[in-house]
Amino acid sequence: MMNIEALFQEARKAASFAYAPYSKFRVGAALLGEDGTVYTGCNVENRSFGLTICAERSALVQGVSKGTRRFTALAIAAPDSQEPVGPCGACRQVLSEFMPPDAPVIFGGAGTRRITVTIGELIPFDSLHDLAEG
Ligand code: THU
Repeated sequence: MMNIEALFQEARKAASFAYAPYSKFRVGAALLGEDGTVYTGCNVENRSFGLTICAERSALVQGVSKGTRRFTALAIAAPDSQEPVGPCGACRQVLSEFMPPDAPVIFGGAGTRRITVTIGELIPFDSLHDLAEG
C-alpha cells in the first residue's frame, strides 16, 4: 500500500495540469482506490466562473468512471499557497459518498507543512451517510 506522502507527491504532479487562468491558483488531488490504484485530478476553471471543477471532484470522477467506488485516502497539493489548503464544502460532501469516515486526508501547500485529518472530521454529523449504498 502506497504511503500517504507518496500520494501527496502524485497530487503535486497533478497540480501541474491545473487549468486555472482566472484564479492562478493550481490544485492537484490524488485519491487512493481500494485496490491500490491512484486517481488524480486538477482544478478546471471556466470563464463562467461558477462552473469551475475542483481538483478533488475531478479526481473522484476519474476513479468512479473507471469503476472504483471506494477510496481509502486522499492527498491535496496547493503549490500556489504557502499554507495547506483543505477541500471546499462541496467537495467534502461529494467525497464522503465514496470514502469511509476514517479515511485519511492529507493536504499541503508550497511549504513543508502538512495537515492530516480524516474525511469524517472534515464532514462530521453526516446524517445522510446511511442513504449511500456502498
Ligand atoms: N480549488 C480546488 O480545486 N480545490 C480546493 O480544495 C480549493 C479550491 C480551486 C477552485 C479554483 O479553481 C481555485 O482553486 C481557487 O479557488
